[in-house]
Amino acid sequence: MIKMKKYLVIGNPIKHSLSPKLHNYWLKENNIEAIYDKKKLDEKDLQSIISEVKEEKINGINVTVPFKKAVIPFLDELSPEAKDTQSVNTIYFQNGITIGHNTDIAGFELAIKYAKYDISGKKIFILGAGGVSPSIIYSLKKMKASKITISNRTKEKAENLKGLFKELNIIDWGTIPSFDMIINTTSIGLKKDDCINLDYSSIGSNKFFYDVIYNPTETIFLKKAKLFGNKTENGKMMFIYQAHQAFTIWHKLMPIIDDEVIKLIE
Ligand code: ATR
Repeated sequence: MIKMKKYLVIGNPIKHSLSPKLHNYWLKENNIEAIYDKKKLDEKDLQSIISEVKEEKINGINVTVPFKKAVIPFLDELSPEAKDTQSVNTIYFQNGITIGHNTDIAGFELAIKYAKYDISGKKIFILGAGGVSPSIIYSLKKMKASKITISNRTKEKAENLKGLFKELNIIDWGTIPSFDMIINTTSIGLKKDDCINLDYSSIGSNKFFYDVIYNPTETIFLKKAKLFGNKTENGKMMFIYQAHQAFTIWHKLMPIIDDEVIKLIE
């Protein structure tokens, strides 16, 4: 009998994760004998869950908030992307070792290409210095952004990112620099009436507003941006592409992203 392979997304909270829906759809489409589940856990459980990857009881793990950095000490090796961002969202087992990789970086880059936006030479303003911010900064640098400015309510967390990216510009929460593209990486907007305080009229039009949040589909941040004549995009394609990259690593197969897949996430 072939043993059913097992994959997991771990985080806390994890209830609302759409990763199982997406991965299980692709597994079925490709006739792969495997199951993808979600598991809520505490930081103290990380070591033992990763040891299950080493024992091949679990064949791969996706990591989400708040453990993308916390899993690092328990892994044998990191990919260059995971190392440079100190952020792991995909774990796999190869040649006897556990490896941590970061597919959020490629996920963001592919999502920007999907939106047909050219980052090179652009001034980017990032709101928030949480779990996904280092991956986005890395990706923006790779795409040759000319200037990256970041602002976080807790300024210290933005300043800590300078340890990884020394060219980063830090400004106070509530201050708005001049920019071509603004990216919300905060959790403001997850609740339907959550609203970021921005003076949209002084920002003007023809900027690109990107929100990492994809549920709700259109946050107030994006709604208002649209009203003022800006281009907008939510985080749906980034989410799909990061999953696509992880799937490809684990199963050595590129699943299809079509309208049906995109609809799964809406
Ligand atoms: P973590 O901080 O554990 O990585 P996250 O969801 O990745 O979790 O990040 C949450 C982000 O949203 C942080 O940048 C957070 O700002 P703080 O570092 O100051 O906590 C930001 N955030 C959440 N609620 C916010 C609010 N009401 N106003 C401003 N920023 C907020």
